[in-house]
Amino acid sequence: VPDGETLVIQSHRGPYAVRFEDDIAAGIGTLPPETTHVIIDDRVAGLYRSELAGALELPSVLRIEAREPSKSLDRFPAYVSHLVEHTIRRDHTLVAIGGGIVQDITCFLAATMLRGVAWRFFPTTLLAQADSCIGSKSSINAGAAKNILGTFTPPQEIVISTRFLETLDERDVRSGIGEILKVHAIEGPEAFDGIARDYSRLSNDAGMIRRYIRRALEIKQRYIEIDEFDRGARNIFNYGHSFGHAIETATEFAVPHGIAVTIGMDMANFVAMRSGIADEEVFRRMHPTLKTNFRGFETHPVPPEPFFLALAKDKKNVGADLTLILPDGKAALAKRIFPNDQAFRAMCVEYLEHGRAS
Ligand SMILES: NC(=O)c1ccc[n+]([C@@H]2O[C@H](COP(=O)([O-])OP(=O)(O)OC[C@H]3O[C@@H](n4cnc5c(N)ncnc54)[C@H](O)[C@@H]3O)[C@@H](O)[C@H]2O)c1
Ligand SMILES: [Zn+2]
Repeated sequence: VPDGETLVIQSHRGPYAVRFEDDIAAGIGTLPPETTHVIIDDRVAGLYRSELAGALELPSVLRIEAREPSKSLDRFPAYVSHLVEHTIRRDHTLVAIGGGIVQDITCFLAATMLRGVAWRFFPTTLLAQADSCIGSKSSINAGAAKNILGTFTPPQEIVISTRFLETLDERDVRSGIGEILKVHAIEGPEAFDGIARDYSRLSNDAGMIRRYIRRALEIKQRYIEIDEFDRGARNIFNYGHSFGHAIETATEFAVPHGIAVTIGMDMANFVAMRSGIADEEVFRRMHPTLKTNFRGFETHPVPPEPFFLALAKDKKNVGADLTLILPDGKAALAKRIFPNDQAFRAMCVEYLEHGRAS
């Protein structure tokens, strides 16, 4: 992926570009001080003090700790107060520097402050660079309900510097790889098997990771451009997510999002196998790679009660039934309405207690 290369995404607000830059400060250094409000991951601000000096010295800087509770509705009055105190106006721009948490907060504020202000995004995690940065969604938590509030609000521009990834914790690298694996599973068995072969080299080959980021964005682009509002074709991007969100909630976010999604995909394959929707081969073929990506969490306790409670609350459900994305015999993913009955629960428990670590 050459320096300065761009990908242009079409949205209901018009096109926006994703630009790849080697230099971390590219574009961040020259923000107009009177009209910019920086919203930045506190940890990133500390790690990149000198590279980001241009942004950190602006008059309006909101530092946020990237923890799940920070994107809860009850934290928003403080964010709004900060922006009001710094006299936000409709022609101002919010600039997000951070991962998915800072993205969700900034995107939601951009959608609602003064009925909408512009925002730009400098993603600093692999998950945000390879997946969440495009697709327009903001997702905010309220009480125990994860991602229950949200909007479709694309940024004006996204600038990706993979140099940020050098300081990511190993588990956050694997969290991002989890979403990249998901996108490749959506593309098909060949694409998944290809990344499975490259898996062991992924985390220490910067050129390879850049190519996979770009590839993941290109695959996702095709779906969000035909179904930005997630009413049809885009639904399959929720593969691994109903189970994944329930695992995140039941473990009080001890499992990072993309790792919970990795377990969630494996669990979806397991349920599809046990219920005869997919051949055993689908689970067997993907399990080794998925398991490698969720290593360290093979036996992490997932208490069943909060797990099933969270699953039942999933916003995609219809009535008492569950809406799940499951593979069929050819590993093609499709939405299925699944009864939330005793047999289903037994399969889930069997997976969490035995299938996961097998
Ligand atoms: N809106 C969407 O489309 C969408 C899609 C997927 C996930 N999400 C949400 O995103 C969140 C997860 O986001 P995430 O995985 O990007 O991570 P995150 O924002 O939770 O950050 C993970 C950790 O990495 C740290 N960090 C960030 N950048 C760093 C860097 N360059 N170097 C060192 N540390 C760094 C953070 O401080 C934090 O400790 C979840 O809340 C999830 O629900 C949203
Ligand atoms: Zn996700």
